[in-house]
Amino acid sequence: MAAKNTTFSLLFGLILLGVSHLNQINALSSNYYDQTCPQAESTITSVVKKAMLNDRRVPAALLRMHFHDCFIRGCDGSVLLNSTANNKAEKDGPPNISLHAFYVIDHAKKAVEALCPKTVSCADILALAARDAVTLSGGPTWDVPKGRKDGRVSKATETRQLPGPTFNISQLQQSFAQRGLSIDDLVALSGGHTLGFSHCSSFQNRIHNFAAKQSVDPTLQSSFAASLKSVCPAQNTPKNAGANLDSTPTTFDNRYYKLLLQGKSIFSSDQSLVTMANSRTLVSKFASSKQEFEKAFVKSMIKMSSINGGQEVRLDCRVVN
Ligand SMILES: *[C@@H]1O[C@H](CO)[C@@H](O)[C@H](O)[C@H]1NC(C)=O
Ligand SMILES: *[C@@H]1O[C@H](CO)[C@@H](O)[C@H](O)[C@H]1NC(C)=O
Ligand SMILES: *[C@@H]1O[C@H](CO)[C@@H](O)[C@H](O)[C@H]1NC(C)=O
Repeated sequence: MAAKNTTFSLLFGLILLGVSHLNQINALSSNYYDQTCPQAESTITSVVKKAMLNDRRVPAALLRMHFHDCFIRGCDGSVLLNSTANNKAEKDGPPNISLHAFYVIDHAKKAVEALCPKTVSCADILALAARDAVTLSGGPTWDVPKGRKDGRVSKATETRQLPGPTFNISQLQQSFAQRGLSIDDLVALSGGHTLGFSHCSSFQNRIHNFAAKQSVDPTLQSSFAASLKSVCPAQNTPKNAGANLDSTPTTFDNRYYKLLLQGKSIFSSDQSLVTMANSRTLVSKFASSKQEFEKAFVKSMIKMSSINGGQEVRLDCRVVN
């Protein structure tokens, strides 16, 4: 009995040691800056609010930037780093066409540094700005766990690890699973496509030369496909041409899922969510209840934005210390 107890407590002790060691790497908590920078959150919110008033595309950009950040090396602000003479950074990698509004994070960082120098990481600022982007677009709000650290590495080649717009359900599932994210997370986070716009290049696979005998993806509703084709002709597509990801691109709502069920999604990866029974069930659930979508989205955002990353608090979000 005694021996059993010893073994038990030894094991338990080792587990505790393991967990506390992990927690020391990046202990995220909702009140992380309560003592050191209590005004951080409200300061970031005002910067995001102001930027949105000048440019309605800002919320979508911030949400996407946070997503890209977390999927490569964890949520460590690696997406924010500039390229250097010897290194091409993530932001100069191929999928960067959807990335912009880096200046909003710069403004927020500057404002926060003025209040509490060397305290708030760029990765946390981005996570908070992404939450604000959702809330200020009519979506839910939530407490963002904080305490992320900024990383020192950003490589353009690693953007290949991002799930792509032409991915099918198994490729998406695998990409999410590699980051500890489930099918539920995949379907809920895809709802981020309620905000924003896509250039033609990300969905041309569905409207031009789809297959040998069909030029258009047959899962696309036909008049919708025709309208996509007219804004993105095969030849001489205007450089900035594209389509909104749903019909209310500046409002965070569940319209994306409703359109998806009608064959009016933009990406192959969106459409793929209805090709498997369990993901399709979730799409239907979110299409019929904005509340269910919001609840699931918040849960998955917290999970995704807790993927561990870096080790320092950068002074300038575009360069390592
Ligand atoms: C980062 O790059 C942008 C343009 O790509 C430039 O305007 C800015 O000055 C650079 N910042 C730093 C700190 O190198
Ligand atoms: C995307 O990458 C290209 C090529 O490196 C670069 O010229 C461009 O400035 C980048 N775009 C953004 C928004 O960073
Ligand atoms: C998804 O694409 C991969 C790679 O092209 C392929 O091997 C796989 O069978 C596809 N899965 C589905 C469900 O279509």
